[in-house]
Amino acid sequence: MSTTTEAQTTGIDRMADPNWWRQASVYQIYPRSFADSNGDGLGDIQGITAKVPYLKTLGIDAVWLSPFYPSALADGGYDVDDYRNVDPKLGTLADFDEMAEALHRAGIKLIADIVPNHSSDRHEWFKEALASPKGSPARDRYIFRDGLGENGELPPSDWDSVFGGPAWERITEPDGTPGQWYMHIFAKEQPDFNWDNQEVRDDFLKTLRFWSDRGVDGFRIDVAHALTKNLEGTLPTKADLEAKALGTDGFVDGSHPYWDRDEVHEIYVEWRKVFNEYTPPRTAVAEAWVHADRRARYASPEGLGQAFNFDLLQADFDASQFRKIITKNLVEAAASGASSTWVFSNHDVVRHATRYGLPATEVAVEGEIMAGQAGKKWLLAGGRKEDVDVELGLRRARAASLLMFALPGSAYLYQGEELGLQEVGSEIPDSERQDPAFFRNKGVDIGRDGCRVPLPWTADGTSFGFGDGGSHLPQPAWFSRYAVQEQDGAEGSTLELYRTALRLRTDLQSGEELEWIPNSNPEVLHFARPNGWQSVTNFGTEPVDLPEGTVVVSSSGLQDGKLPGATTAWLFG
Ligand code: GLC
Repeated sequence: MSTTTEAQTTGIDRMADPNWWRQASVYQIYPRSFADSNGDGLGDIQGITAKVPYLKTLGIDAVWLSPFYPSALADGGYDVDDYRNVDPKLGTLADFDEMAEALHRAGIKLIADIVPNHSSDRHEWFKEALASPKGSPARDRYIFRDGLGENGELPPSDWDSVFGGPAWERITEPDGTPGQWYMHIFAKEQPDFNWDNQEVRDDFLKTLRFWSDRGVDGFRIDVAHALTKNLEGTLPTKADLEAKALGTDGFVDGSHPYWDRDEVHEIYVEWRKVFNEYTPPRTAVAEAWVHADRRARYASPEGLGQAFNFDLLQADFDASQFRKIITKNLVEAAASGASSTWVFSNHDVVRHATRYGLPATEVAVEGEIMAGQAGKKWLLAGGRKEDVDVELGLRRARAASLLMFALPGSAYLYQGEELGLQEVGSEIPDSERQDPAFFRNKGVDIGRDGCRVPLPWTADGTSFGFGDGGSHLPQPAWFSRYAVQEQDGAEGSTLELYRTALRLRTDLQSGEELEWIPNSNPEVLHFARPNGWQSVTNFGTEPVDLPEGTVVVSSSGLQDGKLPGATTAWLFG
C-alpha cells in the first residue's frame, strides 16, 4: 500500500507533486450552470474565472470541468462538435487560458472532461460520413451497418440506447434513398466512434496533447468502458445480452459487445504514454460502470491511473453498507496502485441532500434509467419534491460528506453540494426540460435537469446572482435560502462546514491507511488515520457517546456532549 505523499509531509509545492491527485478534493463544475458573466442565461468560462476566489476559500485542490466544447447541447455538452475548442456560447480559447492561469495561481489544478466514445452529429467527421458513400473511409470513423429486413428497414440489432429508444438510427444516403444505420449508445445526436480506426485513435492523442499543452493537469474520461466494440457477425439480441448479465453488474468476462471489453485498455496504455510526456504527468480518472472486479484495470498505473467507484453513491445511509464499501474499495485501490475515489453527487444523479431524504424504496423504483449501462439501478430520476424529507436529507448528506472527507483517497464534489442544495423536482415544467433522458423516456423519467439548475449566489436579484439575465433552467424560489451569500460566514451553514472540513482535510492528510475502531453499536462507524485523525459517524437516530479525544468539527451540533443521530464528528488525540 502506498504511503504518505512527499508533498504532504514535507510541504513540497503541491502543484509540482506528481502524486497531487492521490488524496485530492476535486470540485466538479458544470460550466453552463455555474456562473454567467454576460447575462445570456448560460454559465461561461469568464464566470468561472470570476469565482476563483470562491473556489480558493472553499479549499479544494482541483476543478473538474464538465464539457465546455462547442456543442448543440443535445446532451448537456457531452455531444461534442469540436474537441479542441471552446463553445463560443461559453467564451474563447483565450478565456480558457485566462481561467487556467487564475486557477493555477490560486493553487488549484484543472481537470478536463474528455468524451471519446461518441462525438456529436454536428462534428465535421460525422457530416463527412453522411455525405460519403457506404464503405468509404469517412464512414469507417463511425459505426455504420446495413439494416436487417428485405430492404434494410430494420436496425442491425434490437438494442436500446442508454437514454431509451433504439441504439441505431437510419440515415438518408447522399442520393436521397433510405440508407445505412449508425450506432449510438446514447442519444441519436451522439454517434459512436469506431475505435478500430487509426485516425480516431490519433485524433484523441492530439486532443490530449492540445489540452495538456494549455495547462490542463488531468482528464476525466467519459464512459471509459465503452470505446472498443465487437460487432462482427450476427449481433446478439437484447434478450441474449440480458440473459448473460450476471446479477446486476454487467459482464464479468469482457465478452459484452460494447461494454468493458478487454481491448479498451490498449487505448489507455497509449494515452498513459502521452500523460507521462508531461511534468508532472497528466492524470486521468475513468468513468467506468463495470463489474467491481474489473474496475481496477481502469485504475492501473499503466492505464488511466484512477477510476470512479460509485458504490457509496448507490448505498443507503447505512453503517454496514458504508463500512463494507469503504473496506473493499481501499483494498482494491491499493492492489491496483491507485488511490480510491469517493463521490456522492454529480451531474447525472439526484443530489445526495435530496436522495437521503427520499423513502429508500422510491429511489430504487425511480432509478431504472441507466440499467443498460452496467445493469445498475441508477438514480437519474429526480425525486418528487413532496416526498422528500428535506431536513433529514441535508443532515445525512452533511454527515456522509464529512465522513468522506476523512477517507484516504480522492473526494469528488459536485457544485452546489457545499451549499446543501436540494434537487429541483417537478418545479421544472416539461416545456423547459433539456435532458435527452427525459425526451427519450417520456412519462417514465424526468431526467437529470434537477441537479443542473444554475447555482444561487445571492439570496435575491436576477437569477439569484447566477448572472444579470435569466437562467437556462428555472430556479425555484426556495433556492434563495441556499445562496452562497446567505451561508458565507454563517455559523453552522453547510458552506462553512465544507470550508472547515476541506481545510482540515488538507492539513491533516496523512498515509493512505485506515483503521476501523470497534464500536459496540452497529449503527456507529469509527475509524482512524495513521496520524490519530479520527472520524465517527452515528447512522442511527439516538445520541451516542463520543470516543476519547478533542472534537475538531462535527456535521451537526453535539447534544449534551453526545453524538446525535445522522451526525459525523472528527476527533484528534
Ligand atoms: C456520461 C456522462 C453523462 C452523459 C453520458 C454520455 O455518463 O456523465 O452526463 O450523458 O456519459 O456522454
